[in-house]
Amino acid sequence: MRTQRDRIPEIKSSREIEKMRVAGRMVADVLALLKDMVKPGVTTGQLNDAAAAKMKEMGGKPSFLGYHDYPAVVCISIDEEVVHGIPGGCNYRKAVTPDRRLEDGQVISLDCGVILPDEPGAPFASSARGWHGDSAVTLPVGEISPEKKRLLEVCRECLWAGIRAVKPGVKLSQIAGTIESFVRAQGNYGIVENYVGHGIGRALHEAPQVPNYVSDKMEDWELRKGYVIAIEPMVNLGTKATRVLQDGWTVVTKDGKPSAHFEHTVAVTETGFEVLTLRADGGSTH
Ligand code: MF3
Ligand code: CO
Repeated sequence: MRTQRDRIPEIKSSREIEKMRVAGRMVADVLALLKDMVKPGVTTGQLNDAAAAKMKEMGGKPSFLGYHDYPAVVCISIDEEVVHGIPGGCNYRKAVTPDRRLEDGQVISLDCGVILPDEPGAPFASSARGWHGDSAVTLPVGEISPEKKRLLEVCRECLWAGIRAVKPGVKLSQIAGTIESFVRAQGNYGIVENYVGHGIGRALHEAPQVPNYVSDKMEDWELRKGYVIAIEPMVNLGTKATRVLQDGWTVVTKDGKPSAHFEHTVAVTETGFEVLTLRADGGSTH
């Protein structure tokens, strides 16, 4: 997003990162719960409701609900939907968003942001002040085709290649280059350019932008200890081109081919990186 440009990335203290670790753990717990629910017949509204209930139970608030009027707790994007798909049962433009049943053979991306609020009594919305965590995973619904399986693997693996490259002194172009060259080596996939990763902290989107491809237009910050970034490659089975649907949110591939999206929130440490969006036992859906 434009607002992240021309701003100096913030350095978080270890106490602040401790809070982001708690927020990140809540994100991981929500995604683990949703992963268990994903199967043919489940609706997107049921997944969104379950995420809301889980966040309430943990004392977290959704980062997305109300963010630029986004109407849901999680983003759910199916098959050719790249990101920002709206689940069913949400109030949007004076109507209720249509619910959809998951079908065998689909791929479903679940994108979740949680705020650890400064004050527990804050409203259940992205307007709550606190620390954010942000993570996304794309999952198979039932049995999927080999090419979809491979797409998911490539996207997950390029995220981790990018994460493993994180350490102080490394430039963002090196992270982007690692992700890009990993994907290019796997075949003719489209790396989405219209949406990128971001700094994260007390706001969902902070400086710097974290693209998944190298360009001479990027702000090429050198990573420093205390930076926290959300790395989130989106990889398409077809071309990189995307468009936004009439609802103003849902991003789809122009060619209608499926897309995958994986994301983690990552802190830059003295010696390398720490993934903050993990469960208490260090595990993750991805
Ligand atoms: N993970 C996405 C992002 O960081 C989700 C944002 S959804 C929105 O950009 F509704 F909050 F915009
Ligand atoms: Co994000």
